[in-house]
Amino acid sequence: MPVAWQQGKDHDKISIFARALSVASTTLIHRLIFPKWLWKLPIQSLRDIDNSWKTVITLLDALATSRQAQYSSEKALGKEHARDLFTELISATDGDTKYALEPPEVELPIKNLGEVNKLKYVLACMHEAHRLVPATINLPRDAPEDIIIHSTRPVEEDVLVRQGSRIIIDIMAVCHNPHDFPDPEAYKPARWHDVPDHEVIMFGAGPRSCVGRRFAQTEAVAFLAHFLRDWEVETVVLEGETKEACFERIMAGASMYGTAFGLGEVPVKIKARTLS
Ligand code: HEM
Repeated sequence: MPVAWQQGKDHDKISIFARALSVASTTLIHRLIFPKWLWKLPIQSLRDIDNSWKTVITLLDALATSRQAQYSSEKALGKEHARDLFTELISATDGDTKYALEPPEVELPIKNLGEVNKLKYVLACMHEAHRLVPATINLPRDAPEDIIIHSTRPVEEDVLVRQGSRIIIDIMAVCHNPHDFPDPEAYKPARWHDVPDHEVIMFGAGPRSCVGRRFAQTEAVAFLAHFLRDWEVETVVLEGETKEACFERIMAGASMYGTAFGLGEVPVKIKARTLS
């Protein structure tokens, strides 16, 4: 059955939500950086974006509230709750454990993929690629109360962050800071050998860091190991192009793709490995 790529013009709930989600996924940065008053201006394009966000948030809130009610009643009856990702997230915001995912929830043991954990060099390559081009380039946080942050560089000082302020952590800048990553534009996977998990900033930090991290890492390492065992990959360099010019050409396509930062087109040549 042919499937159209265009957004449908139907007015049923699913089509309305799909269109709203499509707008929201491409305007995440606007949503984070524009001040609240700007969305109230009588500008149609801003109103459309704002309405799309309201549609998405209203539906997600309703889903979360209904799942929260289901989870609470199952808990009160002493029943085992469903273990899907959405319910795990809801349960992590419940009562005393609010905002704190328990380690066993985050680090599900990978029973039959245990071997993947031993591929430390492949994991280091994945981290280094992520550092150079992080999928998430900023982490927003809203201060729930007045907070003092102590900075050590470039000068040592206390910075007061007022309640209600939005702080954006610039992950791209953190990942390319020559103080922590000398020669920051170079691809050097060895930087990640024996680095503790919490220093891998590309998956966020603290109790709200990425819950899909183990899954994403395991999948990426397993895929890369299998793929690179059988295939050689080469970047396609144009005739007369230097390695640096090739890098510049590829980086020129770097941009936000939906909610993630990425490189766009990277033409590569894939060749089957020959057994020697
Ligand atoms: C390479 C792949 C991935 C990267 C780089 C990544 C990165 C991130 C980052 C930076 C955050 C924000 C953390 C923070 O604010 O401190 C996040 C949150 C999150 N990620 Fe991922 N992620 C990846 C894959 C996944 C996958 C596969 C899943 C689901 C199976 C997932 C589910 C989530 C969820 C649910 C949150 C929100 C957590 C919360 O607010 O408590 N992620 N991710």
